[in-house]
Amino acid sequence: MEMKKVVQVQVPHSPVKEIFIHLHVNDQVVQVKVNPAIRLVDILRENLNLTGTKISCGIGRCGACSVLMDGKLVNSCLTMAYQADGTFITTIEGLGKEGLHSIQKAFLEEGGFQCGYCTPGMIMAVKALIDETPHPTDEQIQEALSGNLCRCTGYGGIIRSVKRMIEENP
Ligand code: FES
Ligand code: FES
Repeated sequence: MEMKKVVQVQVPHSPVKEIFIHLHVNDQVVQVKVNPAIRLVDILRENLNLTGTKISCGIGRCGACSVLMDGKLVNSCLTMAYQADGTFITTIEGLGKEGLHSIQKAFLEEGGFQCGYCTPGMIMAVKALIDETPHPTDEQIQEALSGNLCRCTGYGGIIRSVKRMIEENP
């Protein structure tokens, strides 16, 4: 009887190769060695200890992880390391670096939060809005915050905060 030939196949060990990426985070240049498919939010929180940026849904639905990337609002849970390479990132820590930002003050004064979990993301969304549209209409405010969910405050206090900040900073 003919013997079956056994072919041994070497399965190469193939861990994902880590890469160096460079980021400008809150005006600091940082270099991190990471899996290129790791999420930006993990780099911020785990590698750079910037835990102001939150993770909630992890799938782009809640806005808790919002940061600015090259001035545009992004969900950092949907942004991979390789996409962030070479970009300028602003997190909530960068916004309040020289004392509270006027958006943060307005949220404090108007009760724009309760547990605060959504607040960094909300504030980054407002920053993106006013950078582009310094005097937004009510509809534009609502539209700008439509990707950010708050489970506790409701939106009355949040919208009030945004309007107050705009009024006080004409
Ligand atoms: S954690 Fe990123 S959108 Fe919800
Ligand atoms: S203040 Fe608690 S989730 Fe918005």
